Amino acid sequence: MVAIDGPSGTGKSSTSKAVAAKLGLSYLDTGAQYRAITWWMLTHGVDVDDAAAVAEAAGRPVIESGTDPSAPTITADGEDASGPIRTPEVTAAVSAVSAVPEVRARITALQRHIAETAEGGIVVEGRDIGTTVLPGADLKVFLTASPEARAARRGGELKAQTGQADLAATRQALLKRDQADSNRKTSPLAKADDAVEVDTTELTLEQVIECVVTLIEEKQ
Ligand code: C5P
Repeated sequence: MVAIDGPSGTGKSSTSKAVAAKLGLSYLDTGAQYRAITWWMLTHGVDVDDAAAVAEAAGRPVIESGTDPSAPTITADGEDASGPIRTPEVTAAVSAVSAVPEVRARITALQRHIAETAEGGIVVEGRDIGTTVLPGADLKVFLTASPEARAARRGGELKAQTGQADLAATRQALLKRDQADSNRKTSPLAKADDAVEVDTTELTLEQVIECVVTLIEEKQ
């Protein structure tokens, strides 16, 4: 099992997917699961700023993840959530929903089940995989990058998706989400003591992929 954690815009998803595909491993995007439960709450009239209401609803949606790195899937109550979970509404609400302990307990149990039943190994990416979800992972990687590099990457993704991007606003939203994720009480975004930190600021995606593949091979 490989745990890849880090803040937004460090290249976690692209790296994790490519590494899993290259080595024939399964892949799990845990951020997509938190986004899917957030989307479900928003579309079922749950006030996402009311932690008690979110806690009460946490057990209701059925969230399912497909772990093929070339075509990962995410559904909520059987409905394809892959498009809606990337909307600005979900992105703005996900930190509040994922800070609720009942949500984390539910999603963490799901993540452990998927990781334990994956045949031939899995790359799991998120914020608390090395510290909380899979503390016994064979390899833990913590990706970082400067705020400028992260905003530029996220801005590039947004531009590709929507044709426009405000870099200053992207940077601000990204830092706000990281701050909320790092400061929450239950399993915050953090580097595990035994994680290898990789600063991706000056690296291309190919170089980061190569670096993680090498780290995995060194463990074998
Ligand atoms: O990785 P992504 O940006 O899609 O994650 C969306 C949000 O899900 C994060 O900002 C964080 O609030 C939450 N998350 C989390 N724990 C994880 C993965 C994501 O709390 N392991």
